Amino acid sequence: GLGAASAEPPPLEQKERYKVGFAQMESNNPWRIAETKSFHDTAESCNWDLVATDAAGSAAKQVADVDSMIAQGIDVLFLPPREEKPLIPAVMKAKAAGIPTFLVDRSVDPAVAKPGDHFVAFLGSDFIDQGKRVAEWVIENFDGDKGVIVELEGTTGSSPANDRKKGFDDRILQDERFEIVASQSGDFARDQGRQVMETLLQAHPDVNIVYAHNDEMAIGAIQALELAGRKPGEDVLVVSIDGTRDALQAIIDGKMGVTVESSPFFGPLACEVMKRYAAGEEIEHWVQVEDRIFTKDNAVDHIDEAY
Ligand code: AHR
Repeated sequence: GLGAASAEPPPLEQKERYKVGFAQMESNNPWRIAETKSFHDTAESCNWDLVATDAAGSAAKQVADVDSMIAQGIDVLFLPPREEKPLIPAVMKAKAAGIPTFLVDRSVDPAVAKPGDHFVAFLGSDFIDQGKRVAEWVIENFDGDKGVIVELEGTTGSSPANDRKKGFDDRILQDERFEIVASQSGDFARDQGRQVMETLLQAHPDVNIVYAHNDEMAIGAIQALELAGRKPGEDVLVVSIDGTRDALQAIIDGKMGVTVESSPFFGPLACEVMKRYAAGEEIEHWVQVEDRIFTKDNAVDHIDEAY
């Protein structure tokens, strides 16, 4: 077209049925599977023809998946960008093709791609606050003199890994009892969490707190600790984020201290926000999801609804 691209996201027509794209990043954990299922369930109730893809852990494939959805003529795109920078081209191409995009559960680099312009809005949790809440729980509940912390980071370059690290580290290091002796990525995966924990345990046998950026890595770390003859929940405090069934069970079993919720059930919210946008409403740039906190006081009340 002529001149500069509009500094607004493309509009969404009001219609009976929509062709909706959901470009999932991977399906190697219960959180991702629950999120994808939430979109499939919502397709029924929200009158969507859903085009869902799975990038199998590759940002490059996720970009290609969005390309093919654009070619298939989707009306609207829901995108959980695996990493903050590599998915920016997908956001830009959707805008250029006139397709409004909503980022779900993760975001992209805000210095380059902006809500209310390149995409409509980000739907998701406050990851900095999640990390901070874990730190505050540890500060209140750790009963030793010296907390020696190993941190298992999520996918390098992803918004939850960046922000959960910042929120936790800033808060915990305000208390002189605590030291972070190692911080390494386990890619949000159980197996890698276990492997990284095995290695870090050898270098730091005095660890007594493990902070994992998600429950899958926390469960992997518990396996590594038990294999090394340690007693998670007794001599090592394990804390993380998400609220999966296995994590709630680990809390009930006394092996984990806390998990701050990060809900994967985005389908109904996606439906509601999309309809508001189609009706011409101004959408807040960050549609924030409120997160609960699960400990031994309430895990048993929530395990039946967990995934
Ligand atoms: O983006 C949200 C995070 O992605 C979840 O906390 C994690 O388990 C998932 O892989």
